[in-house]
Amino acid sequence: MTSPTYSLVNDQTGEKVALPLVQGTLGPAGADVGKVYDKLDLFTYDPGFTSTCSCKSAITFIDGDKGVLLYRGYPVDQLAAHSSFIEVAYLILHGELPGKAALEEFETSIRKHTMINESLKRFFDGFNYDAHPMAMLTGVVGSLSAFYHDTTNNRDPKHREIFAHRMIAKIPTIAAAAFKRFFGQPFMYPQNHLDYCSNLLHMMFAVPAEPYHVDPVAAKALDILFILHADHEQNASTSTVRLAGSTGCNPYAAIAAGIAALWGPAHGGANEAVLKMLGEIGTVKNVPSFMAKVKDKNSGVRLMGFGHRVYKNFDPRATIIREQCHKVLKHLGKEGDPQLELALELENIALSDDYFKERKLYPNVDFYSGIIYKALGIPVNMFTPMFAIARTVGWVAHWTEMVAEQGGPRIGRPRQVYVGAPVREYKALGAR
Ligand code: ACO
Repeated sequence: MTSPTYSLVNDQTGEKVALPLVQGTLGPAGADVGKVYDKLDLFTYDPGFTSTCSCKSAITFIDGDKGVLLYRGYPVDQLAAHSSFIEVAYLILHGELPGKAALEEFETSIRKHTMINESLKRFFDGFNYDAHPMAMLTGVVGSLSAFYHDTTNNRDPKHREIFAHRMIAKIPTIAAAAFKRFFGQPFMYPQNHLDYCSNLLHMMFAVPAEPYHVDPVAAKALDILFILHADHEQNASTSTVRLAGSTGCNPYAAIAAGIAALWGPAHGGANEAVLKMLGEIGTVKNVPSFMAKVKDKNSGVRLMGFGHRVYKNFDPRATIIREQCHKVLKHLGKEGDPQLELALELENIALSDDYFKERKLYPNVDFYSGIIYKALGIPVNMFTPMFAIARTVGWVAHWTEMVAEQGGPRIGRPRQVYVGAPVREYKALGAR
């Protein structure tokens, strides 16, 4: 069977341009529209990028209709069941699961880079105590570009590797420092004998005045959550990292751009928005009136934690996280938590409601992650920074993949359909 070919035709003139197919290993091919403007004096128009690929990538595959998510070919449920966040980070960065020695070497390198420059700590004092931790994260990660002059050659694989390890190692330390700033507690140094997630919990919850024991169930739950959040192909924040990085800017600045994009409630800010929404609804008896608002287009209210641009059947991460959510709540003796009951009631109603069924709206990963974070004692404004820690792996891997391309990346530069004023003559002030 011959593969189909595609072309764009000007119906009036019959002028035609062939669209060569860019074939991947899985999923639909991409029709290359790069020559359309040259040949037909026409732009392609796809705000929101619903049908537009911005790059080729070998990192993550999603089939939104079937609810499939693969990192480097491995189903995310297998990785969540058997792997660890640090091993998944290696896989996402390198393309293969590590052997024992490679994993040890990688883990040691990450542990070695967990501290931040002492002067960087003073940046936090410049923020008001009630600054949102995402604001601090954006600012402080961006400022890392002022520290590492030894590794600024994006074309050098060793420089890229050191950047990757530094970024993955330091992001929990920076996020924990933002957390401590909010509470006015002393900054806790990383403990490199602890694993990645235990270290994060220690830096967040320990105080110098007394010993702190990391709950292994909490650390394991966090590790699984981080695996599920580690990458998600060309989502808004990753695309932002790629676009910023395509200019050849400092990689820490590109990651800071990604953090800013993640913050929005339509993206990583949704986990925070879910908890705020549950707080606003208050009790189960208010669910029907809230649902009426959600369905009213003029209200501007959405059911946060529901719907996804790509998953139109179910979010495979949500299925795993839902199970974890129950496990953690049981372990912590918080099963009867009224907000969880409220969340489950919302989930039940939405799953059987025609409005949601017709639009293929299902709970996404953020619907449950906020409930787990809350049960672990993490305040709501730290939910998105937690997501940012995990997604740093994906951002770094995508930046690396793009920069390592033969000849380096081509600057990302979308076009537009101009709808402003046509050409007009300047008028002197008195004549306007
Ligand atoms: N609640 C109510 N209605 C919704 C919701 C929702 N959460 N999401 C989509 N819809 C409706 C829209 O109003 C629209 O209805 P219409 O066809 O009658 O006009 C239809 O479903 C399609 O919605 P779009 O906005 O076109 O879907 P899109 O793919 O652009 O948006 C998004 C996806 C942003 C995730 C959206 O579903 C949403 O806002 N969800 C809530 C926020 C959220 O949970 N974000 C987290 C995403 S996952 C992540 O980043 C980890």
